[in-house]
Amino acid sequence: MWKKQLLFLCLAGLALWAAAGGEALPADAAAELPAEVKYIALTFDDGPRRDTTEKLLDGLRERGASATFFLVGEEIAGSEDLVERMAAEGHQVGNHTWSHVRLGGAVPETAAQEIRMTEEALEELLGEGEYWLRPPYGFIDADMEVGVPMVKWSVDPRDWESRDTAQVVQAVLRDAGPNAIILLHDIYPSSVEAALQIVDALEREGYWFVTVEELLRLNGVTPEPGVMYRSGRG
Ligand code: NI
Repeated sequence: MWKKQLLFLCLAGLALWAAAGGEALPADAAAELPAEVKYIALTFDDGPRRDTTEKLLDGLRERGASATFFLVGEEIAGSEDLVERMAAEGHQVGNHTWSHVRLGGAVPETAAQEIRMTEEALEELLGEGEYWLRPPYGFIDADMEVGVPMVKWSVDPRDWESRDTAQVVQAVLRDAGPNAIILLHDIYPSSVEAALQIVDALEREGYWFVTVEELLRLNGVTPEPGVMYRSGRG
């Protein structure tokens, strides 16, 4: 967790600096911030799943990496402790509908219920909060009213298709850049292994793994309800 603490120290420093008009601190204060910080977000859909998600959480904790989990409501029963652990360990927890329905073209009442049921399950476990939505398959009707920010992605290695760790790692390292939002699924052992290899490789390149909400705020983007975000730049 030290990386995260350092990150917030930097953020607090920046906020102080900004509040002071950027002039009150000594000239070398800015130089104490990491030279070229690159931020990136890993997102995991379709879980939680006992064996794979738990291993992923262990690996992320060892590496001081944060991630965002979009959970399928009906998968939560029996894995409540994993969901609580996600939140306790600084990950962002979001909504991926109750039964992984296609929201694009869905009957509005059904779509709303699918979102609401998972929201209620998360509120019961983690308390009142804003649980961002990732629509399954990335699509939702434009006129559907959603009360939270929505998250798509900018890097998709199609891990569900290949189920091949090396191929997934290679695809992500090829396409990833600062402020990317990477789509993975923590229900496959191959994807969990790939994710941890990706964290190791990109941390060596100076990347910090943050939640989607942190990524947006680090870019000065204020997340708004009903808006779909594809990368840290918006
Ligand atoms: Ni999904």
